Amino acid sequence: MSGSAGGVPQAGGPIISGPETDALRDRFARVAMRSAPSPQAVLAHGEGARVWDVDGAEYLDFLAGIAVNALGHAHPALVEALSAQAHRLVHVSNYFTTPQAVSFAERLIRLTGMGETARVYPANSGAEAIEAALKLARRTGRPRILAFEQGFHGRTMGALALTGKPALRAPFEPMVPGVEHLPTELEALAAALGPDVAAVILEPIKGEAGVVPLPPGFLAEARRLTRAHGALLIVDEIQTGAGRTGDWFAFQHELSDPDDLPDAVVVAKGIGGGVPVGALVTRGAASELFTLGQHGSTFGGNPLATGVADAVLAEIERAGLVDAARALGEKLRSGILALDAPLVTEVRGRGLLLGVGLAAPVAPAVVAAALERGLIINAANDESIRLAPPLIIDADDVDRFLTLFAAALAAVGSTLDRTESA
Ligand SMILES: Cc1ncc(COP(=O)(O)O)c(C=O)c1O
Repeated sequence: MSGSAGGVPQAGGPIISGPETDALRDRFARVAMRSAPSPQAVLAHGEGARVWDVDGAEYLDFLAGIAVNALGHAHPALVEALSAQAHRLVHVSNYFTTPQAVSFAERLIRLTGMGETARVYPANSGAEAIEAALKLARRTGRPRILAFEQGFHGRTMGALALTGKPALRAPFEPMVPGVEHLPTELEALAAALGPDVAAVILEPIKGEAGVVPLPPGFLAEARRLTRAHGALLIVDEIQTGAGRTGDWFAFQHELSDPDDLPDAVVVAKGIGGGVPVGALVTRGAASELFTLGQHGSTFGGNPLATGVADAVLAEIERAGLVDAARALGEKLRSGILALDAPLVTEVRGRGLLLGVGLAAPVAPAVVAAALERGLIINAANDESIRLAPPLIIDADDVDRFLTLFAAALAAVGSTLDRTESA
């Protein structure tokens, strides 16, 4: 029931049942690779922050495809960009470019604020954008790369090597060499840095770890230390980017001076609003590391994905959804705390990427109880609920969420009480 991107899927039976749902779940079980968890529900269509399953049940979606559907479902701006582009060009190969690919790269450079020296490599997913960042780091000629324990950077071999969860790496060893995982402590970072370190990669908020922000001041000090040692600072904004945390990119909360910008920013998920796309954005010397032909991908930069991503980012700008994420995130956070639920220990994160800490390892049960009541949320791990609703939600959606979430917490809490008193 937990996220299959980074969280280890938990065993457990199906949650939602119905004639169509059960039939499709059976067919899925016969054809899907064994790595796929059993689907919690089988979804048919969506609109805004709501989705419906194949048996007609309605859900309020506070996960948004794990921080992907920034504009919710079937948003007119996305539908229009997707269908218009399908009528023009879907794919051209990287012997050519298109107005969409150029405009997407220009917009990413502007929104990341990476400046005049910035360059963009377009990819098809988060992990592929991370692979590009890893190859970029290798181009420094330095052998070591520093990443952090509990960090998550994807499932391909390079991205997996950077991921700080030993259980995910172990079945696939040996890993890409040269990666070390540090505790998220500045002393550890300072001690590990040296002239042989190519890059430090980090997430401003570790989403897959249960929405765990870096300690205050960590990013600024990591920037200072990496600069002092001539190592690249690579910020993985795959989950935190595209306005979700109430800034366009979460690093901007702490690194505001143009001289302090990261050397590379990796984006994906929300920038496409659901269309598969990712990108590596570099600046300064990092923009000069790849030479002609050293990296590429058949689909990277295709006009369909870049055209839609450009339109999604344009709509986030036009509709003021970054500020909305900040304001609604505060309403959501204070609303959860005001529930005064005995199971809730804390609310972490920023904007519309929040982690709810639980007093007992019952997050999968809370997810199931919520789903049964028509609410989609996620267990990033056994003690953490992750919330990442679409950025288009309104105050009524937050109120509805609070009602359903309170009911789910109460249902699981009462089971715990009964177990304790038995
Ligand atoms: C921070 C972070 N990096 C990288 C990835 C990998 O992205 P993708 O699943 O698109 O390969 C994810 C996905 O959850 C992520 O959250």
